[in-house]
Amino acid sequence: MNRVYIKTYGCQMNERDSEAVAAQLRGRGYAVVDDEHSADIVLLNTCAVREQAEQKAIGKSGHLAKRKRTNPNFVLGLMGCMVQNRGTDLLEKLPDLDLLVGTQKFHRVPQMLDQFISSQKGLGPRPATLVDLEEEEGSEETIREHTSDERQVSAFVSIMQGCNMHCTFCIVPKTRGAERYRSMDSICEEIEELVSQGTKEVTLLGQIVNSFGMRQIPYKAGISPFVQLLERVNAIEGLERIRFTSPHPRGFQKDLVEAYGRLEKLMPYVHLPVQSGSDSMLKRMRRPYTRRRFFEIVDQLREVRPNICLSTDIIVGFPGETEEEFEATRSLFEEVGFDMAFIFKYSERGGTKSADMGDDVSAEIKDYRNKALLEILGESSLRRNESMIGTVQDVLLEGPARKGEGKFVGRNPGNRKVIVSATPRLVGQIVPVKVDAATVSILTGELCLTGIDETAAGSLSQNL
Ligand code: SAH
Ligand code: F3S
Repeated sequence: MNRVYIKTYGCQMNERDSEAVAAQLRGRGYAVVDDEHSADIVLLNTCAVREQAEQKAIGKSGHLAKRKRTNPNFVLGLMGCMVQNRGTDLLEKLPDLDLLVGTQKFHRVPQMLDQFISSQKGLGPRPATLVDLEEEEGSEETIREHTSDERQVSAFVSIMQGCNMHCTFCIVPKTRGAERYRSMDSICEEIEELVSQGTKEVTLLGQIVNSFGMRQIPYKAGISPFVQLLERVNAIEGLERIRFTSPHPRGFQKDLVEAYGRLEKLMPYVHLPVQSGSDSMLKRMRRPYTRRRFFEIVDQLREVRPNICLSTDIIVGFPGETEEEFEATRSLFEEVGFDMAFIFKYSERGGTKSADMGDDVSAEIKDYRNKALLEILGESSLRRNESMIGTVQDVLLEGPARKGEGKFVGRNPGNRKVIVSATPRLVGQIVPVKVDAATVSILTGELCLTGIDETAAGSLSQNL
C-alpha cells in the first residue's frame, strides 16, 4: 500500500483541507502515516501569507527532493496557497516536484496521485509534473470528508472558501479566490454526521465567516445568514459547543453580538482580527472600520458576555507605520487586554497593493514593536489565567496530554488549554475542573468528581 505523509503549513483552513485530503486518500486505498520517513509519498500543504512560510516549504521541498536520488519511486507534491500564488514558476527552483495542486483542487489529489504513480510504473523517463491550478465551480463543497477511524472530539468544519475583501497587505484573495459559500444543509449534515461519531465541538471555518451567505441567502427578521447558520448548528442535538474563526469587524453587527446572549452552545471566545489600532493605518490597509468601531464591538460583546475571551491578529511594521500609529496600536492592545493574539511582522507579498508602498520599516523596529506587544499580551493573558485559580471550569476533554502520565488536555469555554489527571473514558466529556495553577498559556487543575457521569467517575477513582 502506498504510504502518504502530509505536512501542513499555515492556518486552520489549511489544516482542515489537509484532513479532507487525508480522508479522501484513505478512501482510495492509500495509507496516511504520521512519519515522514516511512512514507513513499510526501505532500506539503503550503501557506503564502508571509514570505517566511513560503521559504520554509521551499526549503523542505528541496530537502525532500533529494530522496528521489535513492528512491526513484518517491513522490513529492505541493498543494495549496503557495502553489496557487507561484504556479509553475516553482518548477524553476524545484524541478523535481511531481504534483502541483491549487486551492480549488484538493479533492483531485487521489486521482492525480493514481495517475502519476501508474505512469511512473511505465518504463521510460520520469513522468511530467501534474499541474492543476484552475478555478472550479462548486469546489467549496468538496472539503467535507473527515476520517472515520478516529473520533474527533473537536472538529473543524469549512463553511466557505475565498475572500472578497481588499486588505492591501493580503495575498489570500489571490490564493483562495472569490468568496464561495457552502449550503446550510450540507454544513449541518456534515456536523450531524460528526456528532453521530462522537464529536462534541465544532469550529466553523472561513476567511470571513460573517460574510457567509451574503447576497445569496436573505436576511430573516434582521438576522444575517451567518447567524441563521449558527442558530441551526446550535439546534443540532448532541453537539455541545460551537466556535468559529474568523469574523471580520466590518460585519460584526448586532445580530451576531446578540447571538452570544441567546445561543447557549456558542462559546465565549471571539477571534477578531484588528490588524492596527490607528485609523490612518487602517485606511492604508483598507480595513473598513475605525478604532472606535472596534472598541464598540468589544464593549457590546462584553455587555452580553462579561467574561468573553478575545483574541486578534496584528501586523506591525506595515509600510509607513509611524511611532504615533504604532502607539495607537499599542494602546488599543493594552486597553482591550486580549487573551491571545497573533502578532505578525509585515511581510511584503508580490502582487498585493501594499507591495507598491515599499517595505520601509526596518527589521529592528518591527522586532521592537513585535516584542512590545508580546510583552503586553503575556501580562494580560497571565492576569486572566491567574484570575481563574480556585474557580471550577467546564473542560471538554480532547485526549491525552503530550507530557505526563495520566494527564489529559481539554479546553474551557474561553478556549484556554487545561491539563488535568483523568482517564481515557472521560475523553469527549465536559468535566468540571478546579483550577490550581496557571501560566501564560495553560491552566492546570484537578477534576471535581461530583458532577461527572457516574460510571466514568467510578473508573476514575479506581484509576487514580
Ligand atoms: N481573514 C483571515 C486572514 C487570513 S491571513 C483569517 O482571519 O483567518 C491571517 C493573518 O495574517 C491576517 O489577519 C494578518 O494579520 C496576517 N497577514 C496577512 N498578510 C500579511 C502580510 N503580508 N504580512 C504580515 N502579516 C500578514
Ligand atoms: Fe486577507 Fe483581509 Fe481577506 S486579511 S483574508 S483580504 S479580510
